[in-house]
Amino acid sequence: MFEPVLTKDIQIPESQEIDYYLSRGGYEAFQKVIKSMTPDEVIEEVKASNLRGRGGAGFPTGMKWNFVPKNTDKPHYMVNNADESEPGTFKDRLLLNGNPHLVLEGTMIGAFAIRANVAYIYIRGEFAREARIMEKAIAQAYEKGFLGKNILGTGYDLDVYVHRGAGAYICGEETGLLESLEGKRGWPRIKPPFPALEGLFRCPTIVNNVETLSCVPLIINRGADWFKSIGPERSPGPKLFCLSGQVKNPGVFELPMGTNLKEIIYEHGGGLLNGKGLKAVIPGGSSVPILRPEEIDVSMDFDSLAQIGSMLGSAGIIVMDEGTCLVDALLNIAHFYRHESCGQCTPCREGTYWAEQVLRKIEHGQASEKDIDMLEEMARHINFRTICPLGDAAAMPIMSFLKKFRDEFVQHVRAGACPLNSQL
Ligand SMILES: Cc1cc2nc3c(=O)[nH]c(=O)nc-3n(C[C@H](O)[C@H](O)[C@H](O)COP(=O)(O)O)c2cc1C
Repeated sequence: MFEPVLTKDIQIPESQEIDYYLSRGGYEAFQKVIKSMTPDEVIEEVKASNLRGRGGAGFPTGMKWNFVPKNTDKPHYMVNNADESEPGTFKDRLLLNGNPHLVLEGTMIGAFAIRANVAYIYIRGEFAREARIMEKAIAQAYEKGFLGKNILGTGYDLDVYVHRGAGAYICGEETGLLESLEGKRGWPRIKPPFPALEGLFRCPTIVNNVETLSCVPLIINRGADWFKSIGPERSPGPKLFCLSGQVKNPGVFELPMGTNLKEIIYEHGGGLLNGKGLKAVIPGGSSVPILRPEEIDVSMDFDSLAQIGSMLGSAGIIVMDEGTCLVDALLNIAHFYRHESCGQCTPCREGTYWAEQVLRKIEHGQASEKDIDMLEEMARHINFRTICPLGDAAAMPIMSFLKKFRDEFVQHVRAGACPLNSQL
């Protein structure tokens, strides 16, 4: 029987307080690493756990930490990415609210592992409350002597700062984030060089997601084998799934990685609202390819979703019932990406604008079948042609909606109106 570990205390009002966290074994993992482990041993343990990044791409965390050069006189930086802006995703916010010391402890262990003496928690502008909670958690950690100079007499120095973004999706992309952290416009950088070699202020930097770093104290306390025993061995661990859309019980569910998508929707989510049938599911936040109902008997992990042509992404599961107009849904998504495109790359800046225009025409019954083909071509011209993957994130939903639900787009064109939202 799986017991939540990341979210088990979040309903308890004192869970934001350091004394409560300490009474539950909090900061034992950090003390263990700074007192009795080398940075390389920490990296080895995280590597052995097979922890993969929860920010979207699923990159192995220990391997990423290992890319940080060992013999440089440049400072190193650890950055906790708390920008959480992907539509359908609201898991990091829960951790920042309900388990801020776990988020902080994970950041501190990560900083130690990559030999950083400064760490940042980059938090999206809209998370004003969460920023205050994290600032309070950091202040409490300084008071207890877990942060600052010569921590607990070990000789290790670490300072942690909260940096509030201004509310831009692009600043969740790690190099856009670093530009923003440097006080510049959040325009993504060309990679390589990757941040592990040249990141913040051109120094070795690791950017990790809130949930990823929150897993680290658990791995140190309970061991890599414990972590690997939860879910698929190649992509294991506890996982937060965000469930939204037309389900009875939307929310965040902590379950083993690899839990079946159908089980999440029908058992944990209580099934669809008003007894309606299922039309489609987006399994990993608005940018990942959509699934048809016959595809949802799938294990929710990085590899299984890739095998069926979609992605786990940020595990933002969006459920759409048979009454949903998918043209309207795609228009909504396209509007978001058009608004959030940073404008640096022409295919993304222009393509997202035109895709939204064409989709609006289709939704309102003012398009021809040629427009559907043009929309598809536009998406192909955005995909893989930009500095950062925001372009791909905008193109993938268009291509997958058209591949799997083309009939609905054709219906709109032929009927000269939206068959479902005809009031528009
Ligand atoms: C447009 C865009 C937005 C992103 N937004 C976020 C975000 O809000 N939070 C996040 O952790 N990662 C986000 N990412 C992924 C980050 O670039 C990066 O891969 C991630 O923070 C690495 O952490 P991880 O290895 O722990 O997954 C975004 C990527 C792109 C392309």
